Amino acid sequence: MSEHQANKHDNRAAYQQDTVMDHEFDGIQEFDNRLPNWWLWLMYGSIVFALFYWIVFHTLELRKLPREQFEEVMAEAQEIQLAKMMEAGVDNDFFVAMADTPDKVAEGREIFVKHCVACHLDQGQGLVGPNLTDGNWIHGCEPMDLFKTVSDGVAAKGMPAWQNQLGPTRVMSVVSYVMTIKNTNVSGKAPEGEPCQF
Ligand code: HEC
Repeated sequence: MSEHQANKHDNRAAYQQDTVMDHEFDGIQEFDNRLPNWWLWLMYGSIVFALFYWIVFHTLELRKLPREQFEEVMAEAQEIQLAKMMEAGVDNDFFVAMADTPDKVAEGREIFVKHCVACHLDQGQGLVGPNLTDGNWIHGCEPMDLFKTVSDGVAAKGMPAWQNQLGPTRVMSVVSYVMTIKNTNVSGKAPEGEPCQF
């Protein structure tokens, strides 16, 4: 206690002689002193705060955790960035950014499961349609090539045109999904077309 406080309070009655606790480690002993109030209140405060935090953030989930908030903000920023890029004109970079946006890829996966697995199978390993996971491509492997193939289809070979049925935004999502399975080399239909790297 500082001298300043000691001058104001006569705490001689509360004075206790130091007692030494009866354990000892490597010659180090410990006084049995009362913990200071400020320390105790800090501890009780922390316990109350932790309980409150636990219930609000984890049990009732009334508030989002900082990391979830961060991810939300980042996802929003990514959407805005994508929208800007789309306005400027869709190009390979646009699809690279899109394939890096989990929401869009998930949306693409849903479309793929609904409309594409019949011919390309669940992992894109190919059946009627070619294997989309190998390094060989018939119509090119750049994102803009995929976009064109999926939009326009290849009528003569049985690949439908998806532009009208899905609309451009959903075609973009499914292309961004196909980009994520590209080069995963799932064994399936034998490679067709030319080796192609993007
Ligand atoms: C009715 C069967 C069928 C469906 C459904 C289908 N495809 Fe295809 N797809 C094909 C065939 C067949 C080809 C090969 C075209 C060729 O040989 O020129 C192909 C080719 C492709 C290619 C080009 C592969 C390359 O090597 O260049 C892509 C990309 C593709 N499909 C994506 C999709 C997507 C995405 C969907 C769903 C929206 C889809 N396909 C639905 C049959 C299908």
